[in-house]
Parts: sequence; structure tokens; C-alpha cells
Amino acid sequence: MTLAASITVRLRLPLICAPVFRVSGADLVIEACNAGVIESFPTANCKTVDRFGKWLTRRDSAVPSSAAPFCPNLIMRSSSMKEELACICRHRVEMIITSVGSPAPAVDPLHEIGCLVLTDVATVRHAEKAIAAGIDGLILLTAGADGQTGWADGFAFARAVRRIFDGPIVLAGRISDGWPLWAARALGCDLAYMGTRFIAATESSAPPDYKQILVDSEFDDIFLTRAFTDLETNILPPSIVAAGLDPANLPAMSEGRSPQLCGSGAPAPQTMEGRLECRTFGFRCPSRRIRGSINQNHSG
Ligand SMILES: Cc1cc2nc3c(=O)[nH]c(=O)nc-3n(C[C@H](O)[C@H](O)[C@H](O)COP(=O)(O)O)c2cc1C
Repeated sequence: MTLAASITVRLRLPLICAPVFRVSGADLVIEACNAGVIESFPTANCKTVDRFGKWLTRRDSAVPSSAAPFCPNLIMRSSSMKEELACICRHRVEMIITSVGSPAPAVDPLHEIGCLVLTDVATVRHAEKAIAAGIDGLILLTAGADGQTGWADGFAFARAVRRIFDGPIVLAGRISDGWPLWAARALGCDLAYMGTRFIAATESSAPPDYKQILVDSEFDDIFLTRAFTDLETNILPPSIVAAGLDPANLPAMSEGRSPQLCGSGAPAPQTMEGRLECRTFGFRCPSRRIRGSINQNHSG
């Protein structure tokens, strides 16, 4: 285990409750941290930087320092990244996860406050670049991850990264109970990510209809498509149907139009902000999960 003992002693499980847009809210952060699990949330879930600062203050007062760390997810190409970074530094946050873009601009200011910087990567090339930028840990996004997914096989990816990096690594994708979590540890990972597993939790901010779709869905229901954001995305068909679309006849992004989930017949978003916003519907639709696993989540 390469994660600092000051963090591991506060964990009941070697787990990060993964950042999920419009799902990871203040309640999930507080409950997960108090239960001994690292909780991450996209800063975008706070909607404004001012609100983000208030979340950090609320978390500080609701969670003792002996609880598991929380971990804002900073989107490097977001237009508000610099303000969010400044807010993180003011609050002396203990660890963060960067996504979408090079972590390089954030590494020095975060290290100055003693913050651990984790970065998500989908290829060994990405991992090498992130290591060169000075990050402290890597999240390995693999082929099973829900929402906008990775491509790599987790077994091979974890071993390939372990050969070049001896810092903390986190396996992400299709991990939903203790068995794959244990397998991740056996592979040499320090922690694992669970995203979908927490979406139907009582404390999640997901809308009830989305939670129900997850609970009702089976392993084989998953649908992989590039139709919405031109990035490979794991989605559940009932949400596509609920939006008035036929999963079997989705317009291709190469036709220059995105389906009405991005706004009726609107042109496909060309900017990163546009694509991130387009992820919105992903929060209603993504992911397969074994029903029993979600039900266990409800029953605690
Ligand atoms: C609906 C949805 C929204 C997501 N939003 C984000 C996000 O805002 N930032 C991010 O880094 N990852 C995001 N992810 C990816 C998760 O953090 C995580 O990588 C993924 O859920 C892991 O796969 P699993 O769901 O199979 O556990 C999202 C995933 C889903 C399903």
C-alpha cells in the first residue's frame, strides 16, 4: 500500500465513492466520509464557486478530521477551473482528483498546501504524461466504467501502470462489491472506485426515476454508444426511450447532429463545456448494474 498511513488509518474500506455529476452531493459526501470511505464529487455539482466554498465549509463542520477524506473532482478544462482551484487552496483541501485535461497547472499550487493530487487516465500514455506533470496518484479508467468510459482491460492496465509508477493507483470500472475490490488490491492497486454502486443510495442526489432504472436493470442491459457526446459512453436504454429516442436508431455524431437529449436536434456540442453539459443526460441514463447489488445498497 503506497497511500500515506495518515489517510489509510481513517478508511474502513480501500474505496473511493467516485465523482458522479448531479449525483454526488453534500449528503453523500458527509455520509461516505463518516462511514470511512473517501468521497469524491465534481465541483460542477455545486453550480457556482461560491456554493462550492459553502459546501467545503459545511463538510468541515459536519465531518471530524478523523473521518475519511473527501476529494473534489476538478475539471481542468472547465471555464471556472482557476476560481475552483483557488477555493480548494483557501480551504486547504487534503486531496483532489483532476479530470479532462492536463493536471499540470494545478499541481504546484496544490502541493504548496500539502494536497494530494490524483488524476484519472485511460491509457498508459496518459499515465506517463500525468506522472511527468508531478501528480501523486492515478485513477485507471477501464472499459467497464459507466458514463463516459475507458477502453483498457483493468487487469492489464493496472499491471502496466504498476511497472512505471509506485505511487497510489485506483482501479475504476465495474467494481460494485467486495470481490472486485479485493481483486483490485491483489492486482497491486491501493484503492478502487465505485460510481454506479452509490447512485441509488438514499443520500445520492440522483432523481428517483433514474435510481429506479438502475435498480430495475440487469447486467446485460448496458448500451455503449458514441451518439451523444462522440465519446464512448455506457448508457441504459430505458433512459434513452424515456427521452423519446429509439436506442436502435440513434443519429450518428458523424452526421453532425446530436439527438434531442442534447436539445432537440441541436448541433453536437463542439466545446469541452458543451460536452460536459451534454453529460447531464448521462446522469439519467448510464450504466448497468446487477440488481442484487443495488438492492443490497438499499438495504444497507
Ligand atoms: C452518471 C455518471 C456521471 C459521471 N460523472 C463524472 C464526473 O463528473 N467526473 C468524473 O471524473 N467522473 C464521472 N463519472 C465517472 C465515475 O466517476 C467513475 O469513473 C465510474 O462511475 C466508474 O465506473 P462504475 O460506475 O462502473 O463504478 C460519472 C459516471 C457516471 C455513471
